[in-house]
Amino acid sequence: MNLLVTGGCGFIGSNFVRWQRQHHPEDRIVVLDALTYAGNLHNLDDLQADPGLYFVYGDVCNGPLVESVLRDHAIDAVVHFAAESHVDRSIWGPSVFVQTNIVGTANLLEASRTAKVERFLHISTDEVYGDLGPDDPPFSEETPLRPRSPYAASKAAADHLVLAYVHTYGFPALISRCSNNYGPYQFPEKLIPLMIISALQDQPLPVYGDGSHVRDWIYVLDHCAGLDLILRRGRPGQVYNLGGMCERRNIDIVHAILEILGKPASLIRFVADRPGHDRRYAMDIRRARTELGFEPCCPLEEGLRQTVRWFIDNQAWWQQIQTGEYRGWYQRNYGARLAVEGAVA
Ligand code: NAD
Ligand code: DAU
Repeated sequence: MNLLVTGGCGFIGSNFVRWQRQHHPEDRIVVLDALTYAGNLHNLDDLQADPGLYFVYGDVCNGPLVESVLRDHAIDAVVHFAAESHVDRSIWGPSVFVQTNIVGTANLLEASRTAKVERFLHISTDEVYGDLGPDDPPFSEETPLRPRSPYAASKAAADHLVLAYVHTYGFPALISRCSNNYGPYQFPEKLIPLMIISALQDQPLPVYGDGSHVRDWIYVLDHCAGLDLILRRGRPGQVYNLGGMCERRNIDIVHAILEILGKPASLIRFVADRPGHDRRYAMDIRRARTELGFEPCCPLEEGLRQTVRWFIDNQAWWQQIQTGEYRGWYQRNYGARLAVEGAVA
């Protein structure tokens, strides 16, 4: 299979590419990524010499580019991660979320339909369902969409477009909706990497509001395994919820990180809450379990330990992000050519 992975230089995308290369080395992967602030080619450094991996620098909103990638690489399946992904940034500036997450998805769908792509996996999120009270049942795939942040609204709009393509054109798309991921290569604006790095540097740990908001946490490689099941065995037109079956309050996550690192709780600072902050997310994953055999395997305590270890062992990775050094070198050297073929630079 020839796979196009959009957003393959981001957190989940790069973990997915690595997972695929290990488990399906016979497939060929083309990564299409615009290398925004969240995209980092260093996330694929260990795959530089892999002849089955190609990188194309470009924007999913660029119609002619997407069409040529699909055609020139004879793409059989698309796995669409590329997105603006951070809720706080969507509150500060929503338009890029509308552009990438909605217009970009519309563009990719149309090009993929025209190119007769056989499978299109759209990576969505539990946030499209809105939020839950403490005693509400978890979100199922039938829960109506009720997004509450500009990020979630842009993802929900993209989901509607995907399902409209299924309904109108019989387009073979599938949607995954997953809960909060954590693990190696996560950009340090998100809760877990931000807390690890701040604690390592004895900097304050900003906890929004009272810290009692609840998220369902899944180790990123469990998510990747679930996505692979959906990609290869899922029913076209179907939505699959994925999650870690692991609800925790933010403050408990922060304490757990401090404990692993042996750092004091006095580093915690309660700060102003996120506007419109969703209280709780939880996922009903029975469909993925019964139809596909999906099971999140990594317990949170183990996953957190591994993640903390990774950030300790890979200080150069996040220091380059802190200094800004990771940005721009690729664009400066190759960007003028727009699409660059070949093994990862
Ligand atoms: P990320 O922000 O780490 O990575 C996004 C990637 O997309 C980056 O490599 C970036 O350069 C690329 N990109 C952004 N705009 C682009 C454009 N216009 N054209 C091409 N590439 C572009 O995101 P992530 O956390 O890895 O999330 C990946 C996907 O998974 C997103 O669609 C997100 O909504 C979804 N998701 C994330 C989580 C989570 O907990 N992080 C959970 C569920 C679903
Ligand atoms: O639920 C899936 C979603 O999880 C994905 O779709 C998003 O792409 C991803 O960013 C994530 O969204 P969240 O808003 O839940 O993740 P974030 O890491 O930003 O925040 C997790 C929780 O921690 C949330 O309740 C806000 C809180 N938080 C976050 C930051 C960055 C803090 O208390 N302090 C912080 O500094």
